[in-house]
This record gives sequence, C-alpha cells and structure tokens, in this order.
Amino acid sequence: MTVSSDPLTPDIGARRPFDIAAIRRDFPILRRRIEGEPLVYLDSAASSQRPVQVLAELTRFYRDHNANVHRGVHTLSVEATELYEGVREKVRALIGGASEREIIFTSGTTASINLVAHGWARARLGPGDEVVISEIEHHSNIVPWQMLRDDRGVVLRVIPMSPDGTLDLDAARAVIGPRTRLLAITQVSNALGTVVPVRELADLAHDAGALVLVDGAQSVPHMPVDVNELGADLLAFSAHKMLGPTGVGVLWGRMEVLESMRPLMGGGDMILTVSLERSTWNEIPHRFEAGTPNFADVVAFGTAIDYLRALGLDAVRRHELDLIDHGLAVLGDVPGLTLHGPRDAHRRGGVFSFSLEGVHPHDVGQLLNSQGVAVRAGHHCAQPVMESLGVAATTRASVYLYNTRSELDALSEALRRTARFFGDAGS
Ligand code: ALA
Repeated sequence: MTVSSDPLTPDIGARRPFDIAAIRRDFPILRRRIEGEPLVYLDSAASSQRPVQVLAELTRFYRDHNANVHRGVHTLSVEATELYEGVREKVRALIGGASEREIIFTSGTTASINLVAHGWARARLGPGDEVVISEIEHHSNIVPWQMLRDDRGVVLRVIPMSPDGTLDLDAARAVIGPRTRLLAITQVSNALGTVVPVRELADLAHDAGALVLVDGAQSVPHMPVDVNELGADLLAFSAHKMLGPTGVGVLWGRMEVLESMRPLMGGGDMILTVSLERSTWNEIPHRFEAGTPNFADVVAFGTAIDYLRALGLDAVRRHELDLIDHGLAVLGDVPGLTLHGPRDAHRRGGVFSFSLEGVHPHDVGQLLNSQGVAVRAGHHCAQPVMESLGVAATTRASVYLYNTRSELDALSEALRRTARFFGDAGS
C-alpha cells in the first residue's frame, strides 16, 4: 500500500530524546493567545491536545484511503481495513497484551467499562455477589455498577479514601473478600491525581477469586502500563486523553474473559451468520464492534500511539514527575491555597486539584482563563471525592508531555493575582 508522506509534518521518529521545544512545535494550538495572553493549557486530564502528526494522519486517511472497513473487495476498503486492524497491534504492544485480538475498539473509557458491566457482569453476577470499587472512582466506574446492583441485586462495596486521597491497603483488605467477583479500580484518580497501588489490590482480588478491571484513562497516556505487571484482567482507556482523536476507546481483556462476555450491541460486522430465526457471533474482537466502527479516528489513534512510543512512556512519566515536583513547590507557596491529594510526587499523576480560600472554583477558573490559563473547575465527575473532601468542587490543573515548569510558574502567578483580586474585592 502506498502511504503518501507529507513533507510539512515532522517525522515522529525524530522525537527522541525528549526535546520539549521540538515537542511543543508539534502542537500548534499551544501557540494560541487567550484574552491576549499566551495559552497555558493545563486541562489535559479532560482532553489532551493533538500533535500535527495525528492531524495529518487523519487528513491523509480521508484523502488517500477512505472506505468502509471489513466490507469491500476493492482496494480502498482493503487499505482502510489493513490500517484499522493494524492499530490493534500498536495498542497491544503499548500495553503488553498477549494478542491483538484482545483489543476491542469502543467509543471511550465509559463505553469500555459499560461493556464489562453489562456484557460480562450482568450475565454472570447475581444477588450476594460483590463488586468492589473505591471512593476515588470517576462516575463512569461507579454508575454502571450501581445500575447492576439495582437490577441484579449485586452488592457494591467501596474501598474508602484516606484524607490525603490515597487508598489504604488495610482498608482494601477489609472490603475485598470471598464474595468479591470483580474489583473495578482506577489506576490514577482524575480528581486528585492519586496513583493507586493496583498490583497489590489486584493480588488481593485474585486471591479472593475475583477478576480485576482497571480504569486506565488517566494512567495509560502518562506512564508505562503493562497489563501483566499490573495484574489486570481488563483495562479501559480513551484515545482523546493520549494525543488521539475523540470518540475512540479501548477495552483490552484476557481472551478467556472476553470469551465469557456477551456482546452488548447487535448488528452488522459482529455476526457470522444471520437468519430470521437466529444469528451466530463473529470472532473476538469483532463480535463486540457492531456497526461501522470509527475507523478513521482509530487509524489516527495509531499515530498517537506511535508518537508516545517514539518518546517513550518512561520519558513522559519522568517529565511529568519533574512537573509534579515543581507544581507542588510553586502551588505550595500560593497564599490561601489548599492542595488536595497525596504530598509525594511519586504517588501522583500530573493532576493538581486545589481550593483557594474564599473563592469559588468556577471564579478561580474564569480569572485564570482571563490570564490565558486553561484549567477545569467543578466536581470532575467524581462527586464522592468532593464529598469526602467536604467541598462542592475544586479547581484542577493537569499537565501532559508538552507542559513546562514555566507554565506552572504562570499558573502560580495567576493564582496569586486571583487571590489578590478577590481579597481586594472583599475588603
Ligand atoms: N474524565 C475527564 C476529566 O477528568 C473528562 O476531566
């Protein structure tokens, strides 16, 4: 297949070693000005930006190869199918799975978790069976299990969060037990940045005979994640938080687990045969991908994975740890600021969730935006965390591979000005 190259798009292979200036040049959006100020983008936990290589791949796919996958005998359809299917191997290599057949493309982490809840758990769990989650989960790893509890009588048990936002292993031991059938746990909290000791929790769950589903939405983009080292049986994550397009997610599962899962959606592509009386299912993973998949975005997601692997996820994590160290220092100096979550950088992802005394988080967010700084304010789809902190919302700044120490200095300065502004307004 001829894949035309684009002389204007820098070669991804040249992105090693980690060269922050070169990396930033790959993200033209970072050159924008907001309210007359240089953009400081600190909202990558909500959605990352995309490098020109990913944007170019999306255009190139539509321009040179576009046709529906799995359906045609014509050249374009064969090319599109090869490109789409080729991304499964890229995902497998990224997370260390045994086979590319274990990679299911979904619309995002939420869809992946719901596929497990309603495709696996609903058919297999009943009254008295226990699903264990934690207090620091995103709503997408709480609500599907509540639906299952309400419909099937499954018992939902929760590992409580410590005041610093970490999960205590002794507390987990008290919750995970002989009735546990599934541990559904995040690897990094989107609201606090807590890095969860998934391996230790997975060992507890496996000793109890349970399966382990890991929400990797905030970990897979930021650090090396290997499903074997993690002890996961299922892993969910999203492309749009890791330089890829929106509307693409992954559910990885060990083959024997996927074999015990029912498809959630029926339709084209997920069947082998259909008569008016009955249908038979296609092979895994196709049986879980009914209808025309989001093939163009999946192809561009493959380029996002190439980009991350060219940099090396270990280098990405090192860069973020440096930013986390620096962020903890410069935010610690802001008067009236309470930083939530663990104190130790190594127990954190690149998320700073904080409260500024006397100022509503949405006002903080707006004042920061007026100074060019983009953050998220709200409950971050983690209302139980907010309840545990005793707040309705926080302001959250989150970093990624393209952020710099000086951007965190800019955040700190903007926060001081914000605090002064509200202090003056109140006096
Ligand atoms: N889950 C995304 C976040 O944490 C949207 O902002």
